[in-house]
Amino acid sequence: MKRVPLVVANWKMNHTARAAAEFAAGLRPLLAPFAGEIGTRLELAIAPAFPALDRLGKALAGSGITLAAQNVHEDESGAFTGEVSLPMLTDLGCRSVLIGHSERRQLFGEGDDRILAKLERLLASEVVAILCVGETLAEREGGRLESVLARQLDEPIRRVAASARPPGQALVVAYEPVWAIGTGRVATPDLARAAHAEIRRRLVAGLGPEGERVRILYGGSLKPANARSLLEQPDVDGALVGGASLDPVDFSSIVSICRETQLERS
Ligand code: PGA
Repeated sequence: MKRVPLVVANWKMNHTARAAAEFAAGLRPLLAPFAGEIGTRLELAIAPAFPALDRLGKALAGSGITLAAQNVHEDESGAFTGEVSLPMLTDLGCRSVLIGHSERRQLFGEGDDRILAKLERLLASEVVAILCVGETLAEREGGRLESVLARQLDEPIRRVAASARPPGQALVVAYEPVWAIGTGRVATPDLARAAHAEIRRRLVAGLGPEGERVRILYGGSLKPANARSLLEQPDVDGALVGGASLDPVDFSSIVSICRETQLERS
C-alpha cells in the first residue's frame, strides 16, 4: 500500500505571527527543488499557535503546505472562555488538527473522553484528525506499551469505522513516545518499527484493508541527524516534528530526508 508521506510541524507555544511569516519566507526557497511535489506526492502541514494561523496561511499561499491547528474545542460555539472552535479554524483554512497530544493529556488534563469528543467533531467535518498516542517511560518499562496503545487507539478507530469518512482521509496517527518528546531521547529505529507495526495491526483489525491507508507518523526528538534511520522504517509514513520544526533549515532537511526515504521505498 502506497501512502503519501506527511510531515507536520508542531510549533507548540512558539513563534509570533510575525515570526511565522518570516519562517514561511525562509522555508519556501529551501523547498524549491521539489515544490511541485508538495500537496501531491508529499504532504506538509504546519501547526502554529492560534494567533499565527491567519498570517502563516497567507504567507504559505500557493506553496501546497497546509495549515494545521494544535487543538480544538469539541463544541461548535458557546460560553467556553479561552477556547477555539472548529468553524473558527476552518475559516482560516486549517485542514488538520492535532488531538490527544501528550502535553494536552498531561499538562491540561485531557482524558480519553475529551479526545473522543474532539474526534467526533472532526469526523463530522472534512478536517483530518491527527491523533497522538504514545506511552510514558513508566508504561514502557512496565511492559504496558500494547495496553496503552489499545486504550488510546481502539475506541477512536471504532469511531472512525462508524463514520462516513474514508479512514485514510479522516485520520492520521502520530506515535510519540512521551519519554522522547522534547527530551533529545529519540526512540531507536527498532522500537519505532515495533510500535508502528502494532499501531498498523490495530488499524487493520478495526478498519480492515482501509486501515492500510491511514498514515502513521513518528514524533519525539526527531532531528535532521536521526530522521533517516526512523523514516526508513516500514509503517513510518512521516513525522510530527516539534523543536526541529522551528527552524526552516532543520525543518526543510527533515522534509527532504522524508521525501528521499519514501521515494526509495516505492
Ligand atoms: P519534539 O516534539 O520534536 O520537540 O520532541 C514533538 C511533538 O511533541 O510533537
